[in-house]
Amino acid sequence: MGISIWQFAHIAVAGGTYALVHHGPQEGFFARAGYMGCFPILYSAFLFALVVYSRILTPLWLSPLTKLPQPKGGSWWNGHFMNIYRSGTGEVERKWIHEIPNDGLIYYRSILNTTRVIVTAPKTIQEIVTRVDDFKKPVLARAVAGKILGEGLVLSELDKHRQQRRVFMPIFAPKHIREMYPIFWGKTCEVTRKLTQLVTNQSQQSSQINHAVFEVGHWSSRAALDIIGMATLGEDFGSVEKEDAPLASAYRKTIEPTRGHVALAMLKIWFPEWLVNMLPSQINRTLDESVPVFRNLCRNLLRERRQMAAEKNKWRQGPTQLYEDVAAADEEGVIDQMTTFLAAGHETISVGITWTLYMLCLHPEWQTILRKEARAHLPDPNANYAPDEEKQNPSATSADVEQMPMIQAFVNEVLRWYPPIPQTMREALEDTVIDGQVVPKGTLIIIPFKGLHRDTNFWGPDANKFNPRRWINADGTLSPNGGCVSKFVNLSFMQGQRSCIAQGFSKAEMACLLGAWIGRFKFELVDPTLLDEDKMPISIGSLSSKPLNGLDVKCSIVEGWRD
Ligand code: HEM
Ligand SMILES: *[C@@H]1O[C@H](CO)[C@@H](O)[C@H](O)[C@H]1NC(C)=O
Ligand SMILES: *[C@@H]1O[C@H](CO)[C@@H](O)[C@H](O)[C@H]1NC(C)=O
Ligand SMILES: *[C@@H]1O[C@H](CO)[C@@H](O)[C@H](O)[C@H]1NC(C)=O
Ligand SMILES: *[C@@H]1O[C@H](CO)[C@@H](O)[C@H](O)[C@H]1NC(C)=O
Repeated sequence: MGISIWQFAHIAVAGGTYALVHHGPQEGFFARAGYMGCFPILYSAFLFALVVYSRILTPLWLSPLTKLPQPKGGSWWNGHFMNIYRSGTGEVERKWIHEIPNDGLIYYRSILNTTRVIVTAPKTIQEIVTRVDDFKKPVLARAVAGKILGEGLVLSELDKHRQQRRVFMPIFAPKHIREMYPIFWGKTCEVTRKLTQLVTNQSQQSSQINHAVFEVGHWSSRAALDIIGMATLGEDFGSVEKEDAPLASAYRKTIEPTRGHVALAMLKIWFPEWLVNMLPSQINRTLDESVPVFRNLCRNLLRERRQMAAEKNKWRQGPTQLYEDVAAADEEGVIDQMTTFLAAGHETISVGITWTLYMLCLHPEWQTILRKEARAHLPDPNANYAPDEEKQNPSATSADVEQMPMIQAFVNEVLRWYPPIPQTMREALEDTVIDGQVVPKGTLIIIPFKGLHRDTNFWGPDANKFNPRRWINADGTLSPNGGCVSKFVNLSFMQGQRSCIAQGFSKAEMACLLGAWIGRFKFELVDPTLLDEDKMPISIGSLSSKPLNGLDVKCSIVEGWRD
């Protein structure tokens, strides 16, 4: 690429200084200033020109992107950043793609006038999704998560990514998901019994009350954490039983995203990484302490498992045999994967379940429909058999879930309506072209999942309605695409080479939990103002999007199971 703009600047400023001092006017300011005076003045002038060029002229007129449709308004120096930051991840983009006429691309300015492009049509999304080597995960993602995840599947790129995907995809193959049902169902029963206790305890305290009030995310998060731990590490964190069980609290300290992480990541978008790293930061310190602790835990687990595998030729739980071969060759690499699976598979599912319960509260008629289906096909999660009894608690199986199209359709529709990851970003690695439009290197590209999911052009006239029946065919079977025009607008799990590796896993886990909970309980919102979805505040500044203040529900028991 020849010389960089900085090398050019230094040469030019040095040359300019020399020229001014030697060949400039013999009288006046520059002659008196000498080298020591001229150099800083010229250098400042250069920096000023650079700022004007890159932050004013480029976004305003020079960038080829300025020909694209754009939202109106925005601050003169931060574009639409504050608007976006205040409204919750993906919300503003969602409005724009409806309001601004466009042909697959929209341009806008964000923090400090950085340039961004939203892809809004199947053809442009397909390009981003399939040209994985041209559009990588942005600095932002790497900054937030890099320290914790290492170079696991979520953050690795190019050949390293392809190789990891080949090695670790089989863990989530349908055959293995079927074998994981005892894990899903076991935890589901445990947490269902806990909630049942919660209700009976509260009604014992006062005969007037026959329900318990609880925050959904609190319990879904504990269940999801235990399940992902058992499925991918072969270890039960025990956080449903005891919230601050040691492994669970080590994990929470490390991985739970905080506003601080995100703020730091925001800084890293614009300032050089070394500068941000010099900022004395509490977060940095906490991470530097807790990450090694957590990775150590993983390392010990892994070694223990390998020991066991060598002795008994079998892991204690889960289809994690696969780790064995890889682990011998690349222990740190496997630990990267373990932390990646925990981080990617905990919050997402927990948020998915939270939105599921919100939708149940908004659509009570569906509670009746789903309860009927769940009770017809799933075992009673509260059934108690004495430990020595011949008959063990039966587990739900994948065959059971396959016979529950309504439950599956409901899960799909929740993921469409409130995708736990509402949008993602990519960065153009080099100057490139998307659908004929020149896109300069460094441009951030936004894929607004949630907005696309609610677009009538792609999902039909009822796109703006929550309607699980769109996933049901005329003959009552499950429809794989929910009636949308292209898989590239069905993006809860992304599509293509960088799609979620655990789609089947997530849907199975959610179906088990939904089935057991709706079979056992009836749910109602504590705060009736939230019956209006527009009044539901959504979390900001974090990568997943969930109810900002949690979701409190009244939960009461529906007696019986099968008639
Ligand atoms: C409802 C639950 C889930 C949702 C909605 C979800 C969604 C997504 C999405 C949208 C992506 C693509 C992100 C991007 O490219 O920017 C992704 C990637 C990924 N997810 Fe999930 N996910 C869920 C559960 C899980 C679980 C349970 C696991 C783990 C075991 C997991 C592991 C991963 C991994 C490893 C990737 C990176 C794949 C790659 O880049 O090759 N996810 N997920
Ligand atoms: C950002 O861009 C806008 C117009 O696109 C321009 O008016 C403004 O001066 C720029 N601000 C900065 C700080 O560069
Ligand atoms: C319910 O009450 C019992 C007995 O008082 C107690 O052991 C149990 O922990 C309580 N359960 C919950 C979920 O609060
Ligand atoms: C923050 O973390 C980075 C990377 O681990 C390190 O280089 C830097 O010195 C840390 N900064 C502080 C202030 O601790
Ligand atoms: C569309 O998304 C749903 C749920 O997120 C998923 O179950 C289904 O398989 C997807 N369909 C296609 C064709 O990708």
